[in-house]
Amino acid sequence: MPDKTESWIEDSDILSFFPTCVWSIQSTPAFHQPLNARIREALDQMNPELADIPPARSWQSGQDLQEHEEFAELFACVLATAKKILKFLHIAYDAVEITGSWANVNAPGAAHAMHNHPNNYLSGVYYVQTQPGADTINFHDPRLQTGIIRPPVTELSTHNTDQVVVEVSTGKLLMFPAWLTHSVAPNESGEMRISISFNIMFSRFTEEVSKPLWGDE
Ligand SMILES: [Fe+2]
Repeated sequence: MPDKTESWIEDSDILSFFPTCVWSIQSTPAFHQPLNARIREALDQMNPELADIPPARSWQSGQDLQEHEEFAELFACVLATAKKILKFLHIAYDAVEITGSWANVNAPGAAHAMHNHPNNYLSGVYYVQTQPGADTINFHDPRLQTGIIRPPVTELSTHNTDQVVVEVSTGKLLMFPAWLTHSVAPNESGEMRISISFNIMFSRFTEEVSKPLWGDE
């Protein structure tokens, strides 16, 4: 007897909606080696005790690194990337600015709890120093309702997980929607993990972006 549970299908497809993008860019050693040395020098000046952060502790710089000359090259690349992302998303307005930027230094054992970055459109992180044991960031499914029923799975995939672990490396830039919740696992290496976080928002948001979408053009 023919198996009608197969023969009844003429065609099938899987429709996948509302993707969550994390843009990942690895910079060249020629770019990141001198840049990271300058950044490290600038951070050591901001915090002369940077090298002596106790185990399991973190240090964050002030939130205006975009105003410092040593970071100008990095943020020029970040803003250029933001404009490419807006183009990819077909956003009609591409005047954006860095609204805040700060360094995160995690000593061995230090972690960063789940959070997102309110009141911005894009967020991102650039990695100044990573090594095995301190080379991941976790992204969490913002759809909390998917956790109500979580049956066991035979293999984790992007279709059945509530968390994605992304491997990072020195000189890598990640950019993602500011609402996307993320966290950092404890630093299991013997060295510090150093990254630069930043937020990006539309310039003149209330004047140019937030008006009714059905307004006449
Ligand atoms: Fe963050």
